Amino acid sequence: MSYTDKIVLVTGGASGIGRATVEKFARAGATVVFTDIGPNLGEPLQAELAEVGLKTELVISNATVEADVVSLVQGIVSRHGRLDVAINNVGNMAGGDRPGLDLHETSTDAFEGTMAVSFTDNFYALKYEIIQMLAQGGGVIANTVSIAGTTVFELTSPTYSAAKAATIHLTEFAAVRYARDNIRINAVAPGIVETPSLAATPEETRNAALALLPSGRFQQAEDIANAFFWLCSDEAANVTGIVIPVDGGYSAK
Ligand SMILES: NC(=O)c1ccc[n+]([C@@H]2O[C@H](COP(=O)([O-])OP(=O)(O)OC[C@H]3O[C@@H](n4cnc5c(N)ncnc54)[C@H](O)[C@@H]3O)[C@@H](O)[C@H]2O)c1
Repeated sequence: MSYTDKIVLVTGGASGIGRATVEKFARAGATVVFTDIGPNLGEPLQAELAEVGLKTELVISNATVEADVVSLVQGIVSRHGRLDVAINNVGNMAGGDRPGLDLHETSTDAFEGTMAVSFTDNFYALKYEIIQMLAQGGGVIANTVSIAGTTVFELTSPTYSAAKAATIHLTEFAAVRYARDNIRINAVAPGIVETPSLAATPEETRNAALALLPSGRFQQAEDIANAFFWLCSDEAANVTGIVIPVDGGYSAK
């Protein structure tokens, strides 16, 4: 699968799943534009990839700010003429929301914080990416969701789960609506990925999480990047509106 000459956007690309995705597409010849909220992680990643001859573009852009998303897409189009693939990967808990927080304890700040970074940002991204893809005659979009959005996964929070479920439905709705416009829209639902934030979780919680995965192993960021790699390629040309779980069998239980 080659991505030579493809313009690929990865949001939240400086760490974890986004970072592995940036690297995977850059190695396949894509021109990768990646965003992050600040330069701290993105600049070292860019330098590391440049050392092995991979050129990427880092744009500091907050996925929860509509004006940032508008100028991100406009900037890509003014520099490269088009946007072929967009991977909307930003998502988290915010505003005091945290794994295991019960609904009756969730503050409005926590609810709004998580919705902003795990749902509203996907609305902004989809909207402006689709406007561009309609204008250029097609494109491919993929969103990072979660097994928390497809099942009740009690180790996370109800708001995060609802935000991911809402993103899945927006993905499906848009996939159906824009299928005849040559725009494919899908999602990947990671299980529990071995990222720096998992490493910082108490051992007891990590063991409880691991016990839930039939494969008995955490997912790697590269596992998720591999799913995006196929999903956004021409080999998946007739695939739209799906959610691929990459979760070691969890969602089959
Ligand atoms: N790690 C997991 O186990 C797991 C499981 C299921 C789903 N996910 C989802 O995968 C995606 C990536 O998660 P990760 O674990 O790789 O995260 P991460 O924290 O390692 O990386 C996320 C990146 O996004 C950036 N970011 C955060 N807020 C931003 C904003 N508003 N605008 C732009 N950039 C922003 C961060 O600075 C960071 O570099 C998220 O959508 C998350 O919900 C993760």
